[in-house]
Amino acid sequence: MSTELIDPFGRCVEYVRLSVTDRCDLRCFYCLPGDYRDFSEPDEWLSFGEIERLVGAFVSLGVRRIRITGGEPLVRKNLPVLAGNLARIPGLLDLSLSTNAVGLKRHAEALRTAGISRINVSLDSLRAERFRQITKGNLNKVITGLMAAKHSGFSPIKINMVVMQGINDDEIVDMVEFCIEHEFTLRLIETMPMGATGRSATSYYVDLQEVKAQLAQRYELIPGVMPGGGPARYVQVAGTGLRIGFITPISQHFCETCNRVRLAVDGTLYLCLGQEHKFEFRPLLRAGISDAELLDTMRHAITLKPERHEFRERPQQIVRFMAQTGG
Ligand code: 5AD
Ligand code: SF4
Repeated sequence: MSTELIDPFGRCVEYVRLSVTDRCDLRCFYCLPGDYRDFSEPDEWLSFGEIERLVGAFVSLGVRRIRITGGEPLVRKNLPVLAGNLARIPGLLDLSLSTNAVGLKRHAEALRTAGISRINVSLDSLRAERFRQITKGNLNKVITGLMAAKHSGFSPIKINMVVMQGINDDEIVDMVEFCIEHEFTLRLIETMPMGATGRSATSYYVDLQEVKAQLAQRYELIPGVMPGGGPARYVQVAGTGLRIGFITPISQHFCETCNRVRLAVDGTLYLCLGQEHKFEFRPLLRAGISDAELLDTMRHAITLKPERHEFRERPQQIVRFMAQTGG
């Protein structure tokens, strides 16, 4: 069955990023303000039942892939139970998770059993002191969590590294070697001006086109593709199993092929990471909307998708930081 969710620019939406919490047990300086308290409250969170209903409706309209995100998804209680219920929705082909890995040691096995096959892990530094400066967290826990994930058989495991000048851009080769050793995929990300935190981090912006050119002097890079596509442009490092993806929202935006929308924990559907266009499902769900009406509102919501982000032209635009949207 093909998707009924086609936006005004002809793009098929077949992928939903599902944020199950806006909270996080880390405080990456480019994402969450250190003293932030204004998290959503439990009565605003969609229940598992509400999430499952929305995802079921999306899938019946043609969505094929769901990624569970946050905040940090593992801080939502009983996440493996939700994952198991989502994995059983007929027609859903791919269920994945983005995590900071802090809680993975405890939950990796249950998540794998629940039906999550692929995970992405945020990791900006392999140096404990530096990791603490960036995230206020403990590197050891993350590495332990990553190894638990490897042991549980997730494949692929992708490492997301936000590259920042003078902060961690001297660690790219270390990260490449680390990923070769452990058979992880590496994805390098440009800082995005999301919220005041993200905007201030863009002063450390690094153009990844230049990083790619530097890596090409050290390694033989073969242009490649990664099944699943998405915004990353991949190369393969010759003689190794390593793929490196470059996520370049600023230096080379990829909006023409955008196939996704984001559902926040409070039931707000965000049509674009870099725009405020949105549609709120929670009030409708709680007012007892019928299944047929729900499908109609979803078709309508997709028509609100904007053509592209304007991170470059209007960086002051986005008041939400990443943990609020679902990364
Ligand atoms: N710019 C770029 N990446 C960001 N992330 C969070 N905030 C930003 C930002 N302002 C990243 C995290 C994680 C992913 C979900 O988004 O590091 O890897
Ligand atoms: Fe948490 Fe991810 Fe934001 Fe870091 S980037 S504070 S791990 S939600």
